Amino acid sequence: MNNSIKRIGVFTSGGDAPGMNACIRAVVRTAIYEGKKVSGILHGYQGMIDGNIIDMNSRSVSNILQLGGTILKTARCLDFRTPEGRKKAYDNITAQGIDALVAIGGDGTFTGAEVFSREYDIPVVGVPGTIDNDLYGSDFTLGYDTANNTVIDAIDKIRDTAASHDRLFFIEVMGRDSGCIALNCGIAGGAEAILLPEKETGIDELIQKLENAAKDKKTSTIVIVAEGDKNGGAYNVAKRVQEKFDFYDAKVTILGHLQRGGSPSSFDRVLASRLGFGAVKRLLRGETRIMVGLRGNDIVTTPLEVALRSKEFKLADDMIEMMNVLAI
Ligand code: F6P
Repeated sequence: MNNSIKRIGVFTSGGDAPGMNACIRAVVRTAIYEGKKVSGILHGYQGMIDGNIIDMNSRSVSNILQLGGTILKTARCLDFRTPEGRKKAYDNITAQGIDALVAIGGDGTFTGAEVFSREYDIPVVGVPGTIDNDLYGSDFTLGYDTANNTVIDAIDKIRDTAASHDRLFFIEVMGRDSGCIALNCGIAGGAEAILLPEKETGIDELIQKLENAAKDKKTSTIVIVAEGDKNGGAYNVAKRVQEKFDFYDAKVTILGHLQRGGSPSSFDRVLASRLGFGAVKRLLRGETRIMVGLRGNDIVTTPLEVALRSKEFKLADDMIEMMNVLAI
């Protein structure tokens, strides 16, 4: 055990994700169990710069396991990109006695953590928390499973009304750079077409699919559009399709930020607990600048710089082939 660590600072940063609270709880309780003190840094890196830091104990994290969002709040902080911002952050956390960090977030969070840890030689372990599932080194990120269930619930509801009116719906889901939610939920929701950032689909190709669906007497049609699809979002796609193909009455639903909310699924709660527990254990073993993740059923670690720089194509080939086959 690294006995030189006395107080661990935990924070969430970037887009919130269901399961972050369960992870905070695991970090706080594991650290206390191991005889360490814990501080919660509010609003991510912004809280470090502003000195917005609270003392935490086992009871500070009572009854939060099941809550969406993050009790520590979050932010996207531009000041932390500057050396002056990081200097302020360092002064504030050391003034509170914090000598190690657990950072829960996505790639922006880890970029900041990596630079900061090198600059000030402070140990840091990252936990992948983002609904996008777009980090190398973990099969799943916190919040992804819950977001999928939220999206599928919405698709099912839209299917009811689409089928009743014989309508075509374009449903936009989150994923600026990642089609994980779109592909997974498109398959689970029986979508007729899925547009992904990782794979360009032309409007003519899409129209061909929709024409085939109409010829095959499909009464309702659902197209899932990932936010980062190159055609420019669901409204654009719908407009361009309707200009050439007006067989169906077309509607657009943007699911937006509701995908980030809600009580975490049992999968996310357990993943959050394992990753939070694992992060503290690794910190206390003297490991630093790593991300904890899940591979198969094992908690593994990946250097932060590898997690950040390696691009992992998370869309399984059979899923991509299947999205066309099962939609006939
Ligand atoms: O957390 C990731 C993500 O959900 C992306 O898919 C999306 O583009 C982005 O967050 C939106 O973030 P914001 O809340 O800052 O608009």
